[in-house]
Amino acid sequence: MSKESIKRRDFLKRTAVAGAALPLLGGESTAMTIKPAASLPIVISSANISRSPTGQIVNGGIACVNRAMEIIRSGGDTLDAVVAGVNIVEDDPNDSSVGFGGLPNEEGDVELDASVMHGPSRRAGAVASLRYIKNPSKVAKLVLERTDHILLVGDGALRFALKQGFRKEELLTEESRLAWLRWKENLNPEDACGPSPLKTARSGGGRVSRADLTPQQIALNEWIEDKLRNRPTGTINCLAVDPNGDMSGVTTTSGLAWKIPGRVGDSPLIGCGLYLDNEVGAAGSTGRGEECIYINGAHTVVENMRRGMSPQDAAMDAIKRVAARYGNNRDELSKFNLNFYAVNKKGEYGGAVLWKGGRFVVHDGKEAKIVESAHLYSK
Ligand code: GLY
Repeated sequence: MSKESIKRRDFLKRTAVAGAALPLLGGESTAMTIKPAASLPIVISSANISRSPTGQIVNGGIACVNRAMEIIRSGGDTLDAVVAGVNIVEDDPNDSSVGFGGLPNEEGDVELDASVMHGPSRRAGAVASLRYIKNPSKVAKLVLERTDHILLVGDGALRFALKQGFRKEELLTEESRLAWLRWKENLNPEDACGPSPLKTARSGGGRVSRADLTPQQIALNEWIEDKLRNRPTGTINCLAVDPNGDMSGVTTTSGLAWKIPGRVGDSPLIGCGLYLDNEVGAAGSTGRGEECIYINGAHTVVENMRRGMSPQDAAMDAIKRVAARYGNNRDELSKFNLNFYAVNKKGEYGGAVLWKGGRFVVHDGKEAKIVESAHLYSK
């Protein structure tokens, strides 16, 4: 989309900005810290730091914001920038929460969701339960640009993508398939539908010991065990504001691992996994989508900013609404996590997470850095 075709300050409460998290004040939320001066352009993204099946650390958020900022610096539109940024992560089989290599549904099929919003044209596009196309964010962008609809789902979304020239591809990697098989085995051992990496490593009928495994099998096994312990809801959200204060956002995901086919989370729902108003700011979400949908998360964050809250406070208020649905019961809340990311028109930014440990990435035009999100609770 061509440029032509479209035409706060001191201290923050409860923030942990720019890696300067301070000790907790009382039981909840993180402490006060100094907020860096707002500047434009700015790109923020979920961190998407994960361990690949071979044990490598994958830094998807950094790659994403670097690419997006490069495009904005060269005069490109913010929507082109954020979509190009997340495409790196969608294409990377090592990120098992997005695009190619994303963990599949309960039947072993990868179903992807994505949404985009473009501030200057006040438009949105989205796809949900899209199979065989590894870049759902690109398809969502075409929904925005070439239709007067907002959300296409399932087979209709696939047919739209194919007519727009996309190619069908198998999105399930061998590692994701093995993780799915292990999940199936754990679900019902009598109905196991294939060998796990551990079983394939058996030399005879005896117990498997680490000594029987190659370093690659050990890394893969640890990767799979982690996916089974922490059912992934990973996603990437990227938000950008250019030097004129114009903004765009994108959220893209393979959704909740092992989901019922057809389950749609927050990512493709405008106002939930993504929302922006070019006059105010932009927000996005990662984590347990159902919880974000219940409070219309990203819309809530943007409306909080409209009423004058800083991005950090706006995001934390949304997290508190989620906690309030459970009467702030930590036992119930410990079953999931949810993150919000926010940026306003001036370039101020912030992130908040239910449980301590959330991070996001900021590129302020000079450098990309990983920032700790403010948290409501710590375990
Ligand atoms: N936040 C991604 C999902 O729940 O699908």
